[in-house]
Amino acid sequence: MVSSRLSVDVRAWLGDGVEIVAPAGQAMTRDELLSAVRDADALICLLTDRIDEALLAAAPRLRVVANHAVGVDNVALAAAAARGIVVTNTPDVLTEATADLTFALALAAARRLGEGERLVRSGGWRGWEPGQLLGADLWGRTIGLVGLGRIGRAVARRARGFDMRVCYAAPRDAVGDVAAWATRVPLDVLLAEADVVSLHCPLTDATRGLIGRRELALMKPSAIFVNTARGACVDEGALAEALAAGTIAGAGLDVFADEPRVPEALLAQDRAVLTPHIGSATHTARARMAELCARAVRAVLAGQRPDHVVRA
Ligand code: GLV
Repeated sequence: MVSSRLSVDVRAWLGDGVEIVAPAGQAMTRDELLSAVRDADALICLLTDRIDEALLAAAPRLRVVANHAVGVDNVALAAAAARGIVVTNTPDVLTEATADLTFALALAAARRLGEGERLVRSGGWRGWEPGQLLGADLWGRTIGLVGLGRIGRAVARRARGFDMRVCYAAPRDAVGDVAAWATRVPLDVLLAEADVVSLHCPLTDATRGLIGRRELALMKPSAIFVNTARGACVDEGALAEALAAGTIAGAGLDVFADEPRVPEALLAQDRAVLTPHIGSATHTARARMAELCARAVRAVLAGQRPDHVVRA
């Protein structure tokens, strides 16, 4: 079964003989999901679906949860493993799209695109002024990446094209090309030195609330904070306060702790560029994510090991 309408039809990738149970509208409610999983052998779900112990307990036949996302913080991995349910995700296919959006947000926040757009649309623009909407350069500055997985490395490559110094805070050293020119530093050093701080860590017990009041206070008043990872990695109240007080210069945020709710305090910040969790929202990435989910289901139902199994 598929908990929500996907961007493409996955029937061809699922193969013959699979009956697809899908929502009547855009997405199943929690109650509809709980009822529909009762007879399901496989579930394709979104990051907005809570795949917890209660849901797994309501799904006695379930063999695979294919999460249409790279992040799996919505899935109770240990509970799934204990029931012998395979969990898969959709890495790689969304890496470049998400790295592009990260850079778009960094540029938008540094060059104050949201404010400029609002000024033009409001009819309030009175003409070119030498001191109007001055922002920061990214070219030649320092970017600090918190987490250096696939997306972090793709952002690092873009930053290199902007002649930026790249540093990162991560549990282990970089692998691949990035290792040659990116420097691993403690998080506090990264926060103090970076002109752009960008989050690329998964949401886990270790990263929940990772960026709080203390961490924001370490950042430069000229720095830009970007989050395309998970909203709950950040104390949003503290972030809004830092923006309001000008202790950081701007933020580009694609994710929020309690989506689709965006805290009023953040909405009130002119220097925050806010987007509705669209990191992977390109036609190609979303089609390939759907394909990976369907192929994972097909593999498990055929008794094979799918690609991209997530371990508990
Ligand atoms: C999006 O946030 C994802 O995890 O794929």
